[in-house]
Amino acid sequence: MARTKDYNLGDFDFPRGWFMIADAAELGERPLPLRFFGKDFALFRGQSGRLVLLDAHCSHMGAHLAGSADASIVVHGEQIEGDSIRCPYHGWRYNHEGQADDIPGFDGPCPKAAKLASYRVRDVMGAIMMWHDPEGGEPDFDPPALAEWDLPNWVNGDYDHLGRLEIHPQEILDNMADSNHLGPTHGSPCEYFENEFKGHLYYQRQGGFRREYDAYLMTYTWYTGPGLLLSRQAIGDIRSIEFIFHTPVEDGVVQVWHNNLLMVANPVPTAEDRGRAKAIQNEVLAAFRQDFAIWTSKVPALRIMSVPTERNFKLGRNWYRQFYNPRDRAGDVHRSTDGRHVPIHKLPPYEMSLELEG
Ligand code: FES
Ligand SMILES: [Fe+2]
Repeated sequence: MARTKDYNLGDFDFPRGWFMIADAAELGERPLPLRFFGKDFALFRGQSGRLVLLDAHCSHMGAHLAGSADASIVVHGEQIEGDSIRCPYHGWRYNHEGQADDIPGFDGPCPKAAKLASYRVRDVMGAIMMWHDPEGGEPDFDPPALAEWDLPNWVNGDYDHLGRLEIHPQEILDNMADSNHLGPTHGSPCEYFENEFKGHLYYQRQGGFRREYDAYLMTYTWYTGPGLLLSRQAIGDIRSIEFIFHTPVEDGVVQVWHNNLLMVANPVPTAEDRGRAKAIQNEVLAAFRQDFAIWTSKVPALRIMSVPTERNFKLGRNWYRQFYNPRDRAGDVHRSTDGRHVPIHKLPPYEMSLELEG
């Protein structure tokens, strides 16, 4: 298993950015135990609806706040009070900022040190996302939000939970620059292809004939930070948007989710439209899984032996490095990449791809 240091990405083992940590549909009344970035967290929804994410282990004796399904206060629905949570072991209560504010059997003030880190979380397009920053800073960009998620003529999929992959996310990011795998792996060799780098955004535009569909496929894909990929796709009369969200669990292990939105002709989707959306989501997922089999059986590409038509790999890796370095050096780290617009193969047919860029 290769780690961040093996890829020479920067000072931090885990990158800065917005990351999916849960499917909003799986968060019920009980707190969810989560593990990402080599740490344990407890996620819950307070009674006001506020999302709260705290470090998991209680300051008192280290119990996991979301680690019990059968403690009495959990079973009786007494663990969440307002926007606070009680530890299932001795009932210490932590507010949404992670400060202990009530200790059963003790009237005095709670120790100031009884404080757990709390993290910024947002519910975006059915995904619960956290801001992760090794330096503890405020977000310097927003997570992506598609207007189509709320439009009635787009069918939203449910998230596919693809579990954990024992690969470093660098190997997933490399896909953005990888024009030459589109034929052998996916059966749609590109006729045009380009990447563009702008601050925390990394774009790919490409298109070519897709064998399985007997039709021309065009995609417009972008990362918002290091873990959130969206891709607008057009093939024949199908217009869809694919989501690939991935979050480091440990250094060298990543958790992956997938989703797909489909535009339908009816102003309000019918049951048939929903069935078609699900079928297309499964087809898009099958194409993504073609990458999975490659990734999970390959050895890490710590260095890529790239030929001249593959220079974008290096640029993409350089873009990715900004998130693994302190913010005051991030600009220098990817300066040679920022603002670059790099076609390989033919230039994109802009008049055709404008529709996708919306
Ligand atoms: S370990 Fe949490 S209250 Fe004792
Ligand atoms: Fe791929």
